[in-house]
Amino acid sequence: MSSAADSRPSLDPSALAGLPGFSVEVLDETASTNAVCAERARAGAPEWTVIVAEHQTAGRGRLDRSWELPAQSGLAFSVLVRRHVSPARWGWLSLVAGLAVAEAIGPEAKVKWPNDVLIDGRKVSGILSELVMSGSATAAVIGIGINVSLTADELPVPTATSLALEGITMSRTTLLTSVLLRLRHRIAELTTFTEAELIHAYAARSATIGHAVTVSMPDGSVVEGIADGVDGDGRLLVAGKAVNVGDVVHARLT
Ligand code: BTN
Repeated sequence: MSSAADSRPSLDPSALAGLPGFSVEVLDETASTNAVCAERARAGAPEWTVIVAEHQTAGRGRLDRSWELPAQSGLAFSVLVRRHVSPARWGWLSLVAGLAVAEAIGPEAKVKWPNDVLIDGRKVSGILSELVMSGSATAAVIGIGINVSLTADELPVPTATSLALEGITMSRTTLLTSVLLRLRHRIAELTTFTEAELIHAYAARSATIGHAVTVSMPDGSVVEGIADGVDGDGRLLVAGKAVNVGDVVHARLT
């Protein structure tokens, strides 16, 4: 066993089981926690069901990308959200999930619109939110991957990083607990906050707003300019255009 693997303890299922208001299921191995969480949603699982895998073997990213990490080197988990969020604010789910992850990591972490968390410009976490039909209602599965103890050799791409590489030491159980509590808080704000308050909270952690970006659209067109902010639907405002989370292929900081 390598020394990196030696320093990769298991999650603590009993600490996670004691998290009030959440139902956390720890799986040794699964293809995709989003897929399992979506199955649970269709079977009627309650809100705040959480599926977390010690080893995710075929994790899904945005736009059919994959998300795979060595066993126990990161966090791969999915959270089921139901009645809390009005459909008008679904567009904010990935954005506030990014905020929750950044807050749990610390002040050095920033959110890159629409679904990444960066430390010093490098991606440490990615988020994939999916809507699922559950009976006659729509539920949301928020999938979050965080690179925790990956070594430089294990990074999926050179532009990524891990908490360990940034000198941040935190147990995965503590990190998961912190993200879940902050996520529930941020999701509650989707109901209680005004648009202006949501925009303000997001902008305060943003690595994108105020910077030059190049946004690639599915039809091959490119929108370039300074990111002026996000609007009340969580769309990025660039060069007089409002870009939807669901439409963007890439949003690169330039
Ligand atoms: C991205 O950066 O493209 C999003 C990556 C999202 C990965 C997470 S890991 C847990 C959850 N389960 C999945 O299959 N994907 C998400």
